[in-house]
Amino acid sequence: APAEIQVHDLIDSTNTHLLELARQGAAHGAVVLAEGQLRGRGRRGRAWCSPPGENLYLSVLLRFDRPVAALGAFTLVAGLALAEALNELGIRGHGVKWPNDVWHQERKLAGILSELQGEVQGPCALVVGIGVNVHARESGALPVDQPWTSLALVQPGAAPDRNVLAGRLLAQLFRAYELFCQSGLGAFEGLWERYDLLRGREVQVSGLRESLVGIACGVSPEGHLRVAAGGQVHHLHSGEVSVRPH
Ligand code: BTN
Repeated sequence: APAEIQVHDLIDSTNTHLLELARQGAAHGAVVLAEGQLRGRGRRGRAWCSPPGENLYLSVLLRFDRPVAALGAFTLVAGLALAEALNELGIRGHGVKWPNDVWHQERKLAGILSELQGEVQGPCALVVGIGVNVHARESGALPVDQPWTSLALVQPGAAPDRNVLAGRLLAQLFRAYELFCQSGLGAFEGLWERYDLLRGREVQVSGLRESLVGIACGVSPEGHLRVAAGGQVHHLHSGEVSVRPH
């Protein structure tokens, strides 16, 4: 069960706030939710526009008391936890897009930003921040650099209640955390295969010195994306590259 759940009206960023709580010693499982964010943050320094009242903005603190192999891979696991939570709520047609997005068909539904507090080598705390477009209907306030959608748009009239979604998501996340600590990423191979939206598709990789187009073929045991191109299988690390279906 979560140690502490804070629900804010407006906040700068649930991740920023929880990172500060982590520095002050907040317990494993602490959760921060907000109705809206003034400075919501996305990956690669991007802003995550966070209009109040419409969507889910949630951060959870997970403590690892010993170095965990491939900690960065937990972000992949968090995406799977969200995919499973949505599945439980009757949503279909969604999947994970490496490294840490959940898309519905060709549109982004949710993003995940994991941030580490402390040393990777020692005990550390991971703040996993998840933003899910729930009721958003207009592109006005949302990031428009990528095609996006929301649960209300994919499931007209039947978008899940945000509290219910938050509950399911947290339950899935804590379950995934236990399994990840015991067995690592390997335990999630089947789930990744089930939800992998890129598998078998031609992808374009940017951020490398030379641009790469190839066929996505799953993830390695370390969580790297495998892309087959020119008779070789390239291993891509998250953070360095971005991948788009081609
Ligand atoms: C991305 O796709 O770039 C990641 C977006 C992550 C957004 C969430 S919303 C809750 C948490 N607080 C933040 O400031 N960011 C994450």
